[in-house]
Amino acid sequence: MNERTPILVAGGAGYIGSHTCLRLHEAGFLPIVYDNLSNGWESFVQWGPLEVGDINDAARLDAVLARHKPAAIIHFAAFIEVGFSVAEPGAFYANNVGGTITLFEAARRAGIDKLVFSSTCATYGAPVYVPMDEKHPQAPLNPYGRSKLMVEQILADLDQYKAFRSVVLRYFNAAGADPEGRIGEKHEPETHAIPLAIAAARGERDAFTLFGSDYDTRDGTCVRDYIHVLDLADAHVLALKWLLDGGESTAFNLGTGEGTTVRELVGAIERRSNTPFPLIPAERRAGDAPSLVANNDKARTGLGWSPRYDLQEIIDHAWAWHANGALALKR
Ligand SMILES: NC(=O)c1ccc[n+]([C@@H]2O[C@H](COP(=O)([O-])OP(=O)(O)OC[C@H]3O[C@@H](n4cnc5c(N)ncnc54)[C@H](O)[C@@H]3O)[C@@H](O)[C@H]2O)c1
Repeated sequence: MNERTPILVAGGAGYIGSHTCLRLHEAGFLPIVYDNLSNGWESFVQWGPLEVGDINDAARLDAVLARHKPAAIIHFAAFIEVGFSVAEPGAFYANNVGGTITLFEAARRAGIDKLVFSSTCATYGAPVYVPMDEKHPQAPLNPYGRSKLMVEQILADLDQYKAFRSVVLRYFNAAGADPEGRIGEKHEPETHAIPLAIAAARGERDAFTLFGSDYDTRDGTCVRDYIHVLDLADAHVLALKWLLDGGESTAFNLGTGEGTTVRELVGAIERRSNTPFPLIPAERRAGDAPSLVANNDKARTGLGWSPRYDLQEIIDHAWAWHANGALALKR
């Protein structure tokens, strides 16, 4: 039997990282999860070993990389909450940029020169045109988006001066869950629309807050591009293979290309639950763009990737996970 190629997955106990570990396992790789469990779940680590550690801890990284000798790194580990990035920009940059540099330097000391990085459509900022392709100007609206753009810029320098190759994946809105219910979305605090709306539909929250209903969109609410987390996971495996096959450093948008308004999302969840739930209209949130939709042509042609799941499947899988998995998870 062939040995599985080890891949270090920083942040692999989190939402998108754990689904990527599932797909890495199915593709014949051995995911080595490196996570400090600040926002991840030990029970999400099911397809390879867990090394508890912080990306800010150079000595721990050196030891783990020496033990497992991964062929490449997939880097998800970060703070992800925009509100926290505004409240505590220093702590946010220290983790997302400082910790990331520590990880990159440990990788280079270990002789690893390939990395897939979790970036975001938030690096684009306010849309100049929609759908947005990879050439769209990058002018992030908050420290979260800026922390990701800074890492993209560092990766460009590492490529140019140190032959360290990377694929930057800019996700739109990750959503859904493993259809078999083994893993799913649970953030603390939860700020993502689908789990919040599902909690409202199930009566676990009093209502769903609608931030802004006067945008210049088809029903006045924000338009977002919801992409199934397993479609994202598939793209990570393809990006990894791209690097292992000698592909050059590049960036890909990962979204479906279909926009859904918040009201449409609420309607779809109400249909799934058979119960309308209360909406609380609220002011626009600072920094929320009216419409964020991906042009995914580059990932389709470059990686041979295409999303498999539609919005109804995203909601069905998220609903099933919420009812059976998320509520059982306790810190
Ligand atoms: N969820 C989305 O819609 C979305 C969209 C765009 C980009 N992203 C990016 O994707 C990545 C994963 O997002 P997610 O939704 O799975 O978040 P998540 O919080 O579920 O996963 C992040 C993981 O990183 C770990 N982590 C954080 N800081 C660490 C540190 N210093 N050392 C070690 N581990 C650390 C956490 O414990 C957690 O398990 C993030 O980088 C995020 O910015 C997410």
